[in-house]
Amino acid sequence: MSGTGISTGSPAATSGRPRVILGVAGGIAAYKSCELLRLLTESGHAVRVVPTAGALRFVGAATWAALSGEPVHTDVWSDVEQVPHVRLGQQADLVVVAPATADLIARAAIGRADDLLTATLLTARCPVLFAPAMHTEMWEHPATQANVRTLRERGVVVLDPAIGRLTGADTGRGRLPEPSEIYDAAMLLLARGHQPLDLLGRHVVVSAGGTREPLDPVRYLGNRSSGRQGYALARTAIARGAEVTLVSANVALPEPAGVKLVRVRTAEDLRRAMLDAAPAADAIVMAAAVADFRPAERAEHKLKKADRDPDPVALVRNPDVLAELSRDRSRPGQIVVGFAAETNDVLANGRAKLAAKGCDLLVVNEVGETRAFETPDNAATVLGADGSVTEVPLGSKEALAHAVWDLVAARIPD
Ligand code: CTP
Repeated sequence: MSGTGISTGSPAATSGRPRVILGVAGGIAAYKSCELLRLLTESGHAVRVVPTAGALRFVGAATWAALSGEPVHTDVWSDVEQVPHVRLGQQADLVVVAPATADLIARAAIGRADDLLTATLLTARCPVLFAPAMHTEMWEHPATQANVRTLRERGVVVLDPAIGRLTGADTGRGRLPEPSEIYDAAMLLLARGHQPLDLLGRHVVVSAGGTREPLDPVRYLGNRSSGRQGYALARTAIARGAEVTLVSANVALPEPAGVKLVRVRTAEDLRRAMLDAAPAADAIVMAAAVADFRPAERAEHKLKKADRDPDPVALVRNPDVLAELSRDRSRPGQIVVGFAAETNDVLANGRAKLAAKGCDLLVVNEVGETRAFETPDNAATVLGADGSVTEVPLGSKEALAHAVWDLVAARIPD
């Protein structure tokens, strides 16, 4: 549904405000879309809500109209003189469907136009984002999975639902991602405009955060990595159409919409999670700060001053996960990317590290007390095993992430 041939021009050239269609299908998670709508309107988007008849059983038209400041219709027979079943889709800069139910996904996949939302999906030529929510059995059913595949092949970004509490007492995959995370995914997609989804059908694995190596039940050796850069890589890969596994080491950030999240603590946990995910990956990005050493022993009980004083803590080496992933490529043509944080001789250290690790790309950045860690911005030089050098100027971690994916996408074989 995304694609070429748009005739409405850029958002600025049309209304001045990007035009977003918020489609809402008939699931209990419809109430969460009120918050998504608020986020969209308060950030200056012109939003038309198009609920299905089922959605209106959960949240009434008055709520959508009041929150959007726009009329709300569900069928194609209202305001017919304005031809809304064609106009809404044609004029949209982005269509977001949240929640997308199994039924709505099925109707969209076969190209039905039996209500205003499905008609809008047929006429939209802008980026389209689906945030499915349903019970696990419905999501996993081969019919739904086939429909999701069809939509993705046509260029729709379909977020995998999150794992968590569903309606009633059950828990599983099928939960709508948090509205703020759907909003972030929507904004990244809107910002890409009509650029092709160059990671569509690709599976990428990203590690993020910093490992913690326990000394005893309450103490650990750790580092200051916040996980922001790895999370930005995951979010931007989703917005470029990828399937994303995010291996997250001790990160206190919200779960990005659409990723498969694997939480780990230690370097050894991270290694196992990466090796498990690697065989399916077209690209692997090691953005996590992995502890090089761990305490040789882990005390079962909290250490007392008297137990240790004055012994130093004995350390042993952790495995080098990036070097191992680079050496034992589990898939032909797989692209492996490392990160290197350096405080001095940044490029020389980077080149030596690229060679020692055996990866295809190494993103080198200078760190210090106030640089890169826990900040929203990053600058870097990306060194390629093929001799390429790409400077990425100081910008957001999303901008650096996109620069990395540009280089990765150009290297993944067809
Ligand atoms: N890395 C890894 N396993 C380790 C250490 C690091 O996979 N045990 C990965 C990081 O995820 C990163 C890259 O290697 O992508 C470089 O990490 P860095 O800490 O800069 O390098 P080190 O190998 O630790 O080298 P040094 O400490 O000597 O600078």
